[in-house]
Amino acid sequence: MTEAPRKIIIDTDPGQDDAVAIMLALASPEVEVLGVVAVAGNVPLALTERNARIVCELSGKPETRVFAGCDRPMLRPLVTAEQVHGETGLDGPTLPEPTMALQSQHGVDFIIETLRREPMHSVTLCALGPLTNIATAFQRAPDIIPRIQQIVLMGGAYFELGNVTPVAEFNIYVDPHAADIVFKSGACIIVMPLDVTHKALTSPQRIAAFRDLKTEPGRLVAEWTDFFERFDKQKYGSDGAPLHDPCVIAWLIRPELFQGRFINVEIETQSELTLGMTVADWWRVTERPGNALFINSLDAEGFFALLTERIGRL
Ligand code: RIB
Ligand code: CA
Repeated sequence: MTEAPRKIIIDTDPGQDDAVAIMLALASPEVEVLGVVAVAGNVPLALTERNARIVCELSGKPETRVFAGCDRPMLRPLVTAEQVHGETGLDGPTLPEPTMALQSQHGVDFIIETLRREPMHSVTLCALGPLTNIATAFQRAPDIIPRIQQIVLMGGAYFELGNVTPVAEFNIYVDPHAADIVFKSGACIIVMPLDVTHKALTSPQRIAAFRDLKTEPGRLVAEWTDFFERFDKQKYGSDGAPLHDPCVIAWLIRPELFQGRFINVEIETQSELTLGMTVADWWRVTERPGNALFINSLDAEGFFALLTERIGRL
């Protein structure tokens, strides 16, 4: 008897890697996407919500409910990443304007309402961007926190250090106060930091495998990753682009592809020098209690095999 699909809410700032993660989720019977909530991050909210609708339509799932959430961080001014993702956030292929409607309900209200309605521990939050929507929901409705099954989020870094400052990863850096609320919430948290996502690197062969699917989604993923990788190759001299956000969805489907350690992770919110740093007590040198499963490695071949096979189903 196959298990019932896992109910998830995707909170996202598309972003080419977010787009691939959303496609992976929509292609996988192991998960049921209750809704996609856009947040300001890689590009402003008006673009992230547009992009989320485009991706759902191009995945052949125009019935997916897409919501707009917060248009700026809780306290900090918005920092975006057009230098990585392009002006639209989904640069690479030419894309049609979305035709599916944006939901009228605010994304934060959707998160609150869904967690209050669905059975206890039956909904997982998949956070692919800054944690503004989730932290705002926690502040407005703390009663939803114990109802969450798990929060699986892409963010942070420890041994890999930062990608937006010397010590901070983008999603956490954009809204460190939101991240602090989430990491102190007591929710069950699984973290996909740069320590693991920088091992999920595209390569010419892996991109060719998407193109060789001979499908529109396959072509889009190949062109998005072609565009997305130029920034990281130039910056790190790496052989390919790290597919950060798809690691979140892949963990839900095949957690055995990933390894990590349950440790304490706290967020720097005071120092301008280290703002947004995920202070991960990997060696347990403090008495601070564990609060997150911090993933630091994956089976990259298995990850790309899963990703390619699933994109091929769209
Ligand atoms: O640092 C990588 C993260 O920032 C990814 O989620 C990417 O989409 C951007 O949001
Ligand atoms: Ca993202």
